[in-house]
Amino acid sequence: NVVPGFSDKVVDWQRQHGRNHLPWQNTRDPYRVWLSEIMLQQTQVATVLNYYARFLEAFPTVQALAAADEDAVLALWSGLGYYSRARNLHRCARQVVVEHGGVFPPSARELADLPGIGRSTANAIAAFCYGERVAILDANVRRVLGRVLAFDADLSQAANVQRLWQQADGLLPVRDLPVAMPRYTQGMMDLGARICLPRNPQCLICPVASACVARQRGNPTAYPVLTRK
Ligand code: ADE
Repeated sequence: NVVPGFSDKVVDWQRQHGRNHLPWQNTRDPYRVWLSEIMLQQTQVATVLNYYARFLEAFPTVQALAAADEDAVLALWSGLGYYSRARNLHRCARQVVVEHGGVFPPSARELADLPGIGRSTANAIAAFCYGERVAILDANVRRVLGRVLAFDADLSQAANVQRLWQQADGLLPVRDLPVAMPRYTQGMMDLGARICLPRNPQCLICPVASACVARQRGNPTAYPVLTRK
């Protein structure tokens, strides 16, 4: 592993201090996990909670969502913004029903072929639902890893993002698989949301502060580097 003990620290911290009662946790139903990840892509948890409950009430299964009119889906999305998410969500449900017999495909690679599911979202679903050993790298996790590694290459360049993905792969758990994967994945999200904040990183209570190179250099907020956004 690139940083000794990193994944164990994240896993142990998540168990004790992470978020463990969100409605899309403690389920391995890919439909529910997928819906939550799409809603959470550009929207805060507090806002998503209500939409998520109402959406699942209206469309409890991927079949129900696939059978709905797009207008009904957009109406339930109203207020969440980024409406292409809702259109892709509907297209994705139809594709799961028509091309996969109503069952979400069981690997990150196949999930990433579905509409609206990028690499990080595919990997999150696969880690949460199947325990697949794949990394996530959304904006929050880029910040966490950018700081831990003092990754100073410009992340507005795709080649550098690729290099960070490779680093992320190198930090994944190697023990207690597959059960460590949901916990580790949630832990990385929780670190980004609650500890490794954009302007005020809470290094004094961070479980990976001792491994964090940016912290050692005294300038965590200098990472990650993004020349344009
Ligand atoms: N943001 C994206 N995915 C999330 C999750 N599973 N829990 C909390 N916040 C998230």
